[in-house]
Amino acid sequence: MTESAPNAVTELPRLLPPPDAPGGRRSHDWYAHANRHGRLPYRDQQGVLIRDIEVAGLTGRGGAAFPVHRKLQAVSDAARQRRRAPVVIANGAESEPASDKDATLLWLSPHLVLDGLQLAAEAVGADTAIVYTHASRARDVGSRLNEALQARQAAGVDRVAVTLAEAPARFLSGQETAMVSHLSGGPAIPAFVPPRITERGLNGAPTLVQNVETLAHLALIARRGPRWFRSVGTQAEPGSMLTTVRRADGKPRITEVPLGIPLRELTGDLAPDAAVLLGGFHGTWLTGAQARILTLDNRSLATAQSRVGAGIVITLPAGRCGLVETARVVRYLALESAGQCGPCLNGLPRMAAALAEIAGGRARPQTLADVERWAGLVTGRGACHHPDGTARFVRSALRTFAAELDFHKRGRCSAASTEPFLPVPQATARTEEDWI
Ligand SMILES: Cc1cc2nc3c(=O)[nH]c(=O)nc-3n(C[C@H](O)[C@H](O)[C@H](O)COP(=O)(O)O)c2cc1C
Ligand code: SF4
Repeated sequence: MTESAPNAVTELPRLLPPPDAPGGRRSHDWYAHANRHGRLPYRDQQGVLIRDIEVAGLTGRGGAAFPVHRKLQAVSDAARQRRRAPVVIANGAESEPASDKDATLLWLSPHLVLDGLQLAAEAVGADTAIVYTHASRARDVGSRLNEALQARQAAGVDRVAVTLAEAPARFLSGQETAMVSHLSGGPAIPAFVPPRITERGLNGAPTLVQNVETLAHLALIARRGPRWFRSVGTQAEPGSMLTTVRRADGKPRITEVPLGIPLRELTGDLAPDAAVLLGGFHGTWLTGAQARILTLDNRSLATAQSRVGAGIVITLPAGRCGLVETARVVRYLALESAGQCGPCLNGLPRMAAALAEIAGGRARPQTLADVERWAGLVTGRGACHHPDGTARFVRSALRTFAAELDFHKRGRCSAASTEPFLPVPQATARTEEDWI
């Protein structure tokens, strides 16, 4: 088996109810959940689970694929050194507009996330647990979680009390320091690091933030062990992940797949000159020719300067212009920045304006070179990764839509439809209150 060849597939889905399960209407029912997955396997000792998570090779599913055991260990160590009980937070903000996997998971499998939260709390010795969800999703995830928490209370399952909190519907509100700021009563905008929140986070306590999907995997590893987790995925990137797949109709389809599967299994057949957006608005555009040969894991995708991110896979329908779509997204990203660092204050609005010129066929001779220069200048210079993610997205568009760029230089566009395709929200922050 090569490093990125997927292991033999065993039972999937793991996180969501099987497709033939009745509509998820009673997903808050604790006993139905315990029947399927078993009781909550507390270890009755801090730190014991961390070793299993390390052997499993679980990485964060919120976008950065950071090894989970390292964060658990860092919080556990900080708590011991500072004699301060930590806080654990399940991040279900899903502030990326193109993603729907976290809301779907919370809706269909709330207990798996809550199990993971309890087990992570035990692993690091936390006495406070919070679930942070998106305020304005179509489904009422907050009510579903409340029902699940009531069921757990009646069954006497939880050892640490859980509170629910809502994230403002802003792109940055899922960033971990923005979340800590919001939960402290401030605006949901990122803070400067250091200190890392693993050392000093919410109310000064060591704080563990994990994506809700990460916690659901953790809950299953605690029950079934690292070998079971590694029975799908690749050697280097084990396990499965939830993906949000959008094809021509634009509708999100949530599917759980092993890491390392061919991308074409998610996109379907692609023409070489088609375009696929991987990883959402901080992600990368790929050509159809690239997507046909790459697999869904960071080793494979790195060869195309791409990465898995939070598992968003969007195929741009034929007849849409990738430059027009990119310009719309970058305008949104520039307006969503908290505007407190130079790259966001100066670089992102300029890139957005230049891309609007390019998309509209009005670019001046130096516009393209300006965009490339600004993308370089903003990278690595912000308090958070918002400028880096935006620059990555822009650069990938310039690579992927090179032929279309030539067309636009001549004042033309190959789009048959100018109807917006990517799900860019309309509203943007105008006042301080919008961030709270
Ligand atoms: C601009 C920005 C937005 C983010 N939004 C989210 C989000 O909505 N949900 C999420 O889980 N992580 C988000 N993250 C990543 C979090 O900061 C954090 O790394 C993550 O929740 C950690 O969980 P994980 O290690 O389990 O992935 C965002 C990061 C950035 C830079
Ligand atoms: S880099 Fe941009 S989004 Fe991030 S904190 Fe600074 S101004 Fe805000």
